[in-house]
Amino acid sequence: MTPVLEIRNISKSFGAIKALTDVNLSLEKGEVHALCGENGAGKSTLMNIIAGVFQPNEGEILIEGKRVKISSPAIAQSIGIGLVHQEIALCPDATVAENMFMAATNRRRSPLMNYGKLEREAQVVMNRLAPIDVRQKVGDLPISSQQLVEIAKALTLDCRVLIFDEPTAALTEAEAQILFGIINDLKANGISIVYISHRMAEIFSLCDRVTVFRDGRYVATEKVAALSPDDVVRLMVGREITQLYPDKQPEDNRPGKAILSVRDLGDGTRFNDVSFDVREGEILGIGGLIGSGRTEIAEGICGLRRTTQGNVQLLGKVLHLSSYADAVGEGVVYLSEDRKGCGVFLDLSIAQNIAALDLESLTGRFGLLNSKVEAERAQTLARRLGVRMGGIDMPVSSLSGGNQQKVAIAKQLAVDPKVIIMDEPTRGIDVGAKSEIHRLLRELAHTGIGIVVITSELPELLGLCDRAIVIREGMIAGEVAGDAMTEEAIMRLASGVGVRQHQRRGASSHAL
Ligand SMILES: Nc1ncnc2c1ncn2[C@@H]1O[C@H](COP(=O)(O)OP(=O)(O)OP(=O)(O)O)[C@@H](O)[C@H]1O
Ligand SMILES: [Mg+2]
Repeated sequence: MTPVLEIRNISKSFGAIKALTDVNLSLEKGEVHALCGENGAGKSTLMNIIAGVFQPNEGEILIEGKRVKISSPAIAQSIGIGLVHQEIALCPDATVAENMFMAATNRRRSPLMNYGKLEREAQVVMNRLAPIDVRQKVGDLPISSQQLVEIAKALTLDCRVLIFDEPTAALTEAEAQILFGIINDLKANGISIVYISHRMAEIFSLCDRVTVFRDGRYVATEKVAALSPDDVVRLMVGREITQLYPDKQPEDNRPGKAILSVRDLGDGTRFNDVSFDVREGEILGIGGLIGSGRTEIAEGICGLRRTTQGNVQLLGKVLHLSSYADAVGEGVVYLSEDRKGCGVFLDLSIAQNIAALDLESLTGRFGLLNSKVEAERAQTLARRLGVRMGGIDMPVSSLSGGNQQKVAIAKQLAVDPKVIIMDEPTRGIDVGAKSEIHRLLRELAHTGIGIVVITSELPELLGLCDRAIVIREGMIAGEVAGDAMTEEAIMRLASGVGVRQHQRRGASSHAL
């Protein structure tokens, strides 16, 4: 059978960086084809070439056996290729419906746009994913909803090839399940799908075949059923990863002194009565569903959100923070889950980003910004985190998604924090780099830095953290540690199944 889409010997360079060298990919009708590879392997670059965003330097693209030149996104759409971008690429000031029309009207080129009709159509498509009112402004939505709009936008197109570039990175489990249902429907209708994800479980439950890239080169294409997750990881990184998570704190260890203490913290709306300690040497996890209030609590601790009750203490001293800069000054830093919104400055260089929070300490010591010091520190941190880059002076926008995330982490570490709160730190990070970051967090915990990790990935919560509190509806639903830390226990606390109100209260005081 002639493949629907065939990529032959495609190469692509960005200046001196060779992103793709002679890669191949072949897509059958009605298959879900996974594309795997480490951060910076070239996955998004190839997808952008197929979707007409970038032009290749060499090679050819065939649709149903015929050679095509995809010189713009509009041409890609006209031949039925849709791309759900890894980085949300919506207009924040436009409504959901307007964002969804943009692609559809491009394609239909209708001179008379019936706004009401398009809005109704947009709502119907949106409803397949989530009950999001399409008249809302995109900028007012949380990132998981923005991600759903990005997907809905692609569904308005009449595609024969649909590409999903890490669609679930910002979705809740329930939303991801709805997306998988839709992908299976598309597949049943003969639509071919390219699916990019760093989550092995998704690849194994959803995909028929997998192609692996390494360092911009094609490695292999196999039937998913013929491989194990370890096989895929080995193809991706070229070596075995024997230990995914670093050793935990020995359980007989006496609990270290409290570094950060949160007491009865509340903001009057999104969270209440939140009390917990982060002790020396431990990694404290915060579990709970997306939207449960975890991010708001972190923001409340770090001066990013006004609190109305309770307090935050650093080594026993009550903090009075009125801005994030105050928190950084005290040595409390926060890695936001919204990388593009508040994690990194895309137009600034990698070095400038890593130094951004540290400017004060650098300028303080040297009177004016010492770029040599800045560059050296940035270089050391970037190397430690394994940022794959052309050079430290390149803009962050030139990095792959996962490598941008590493820069966001480096930026927080650059100030030598006393406490670091990380919201979904390894989102979009490949398995190998992920275990490196986990190892680094463990080392930082050993050196006495208080570490808090908010994560929606249960394996990460269980594998990395010594102890976890679970947030539900803005309150601590309970705490688990040691052998009691199981997926079931956390899910039960997160969803509230079988937990009565007074027990929840009890568990919350137990968390102290
Ligand atoms: N506009 C650009 N300018 C310079 N280099 C770029 C640009 N876009 C991508 N690159 C480089 O090309 C390489 C491949 O990046 P790509 O985004 O395709 O990786 P990826 O496989 O999608 O990784 P991730 O899993 O992190 O999303 C990287 O080294 C990246 O830095
Ligand atoms: Mg990518």
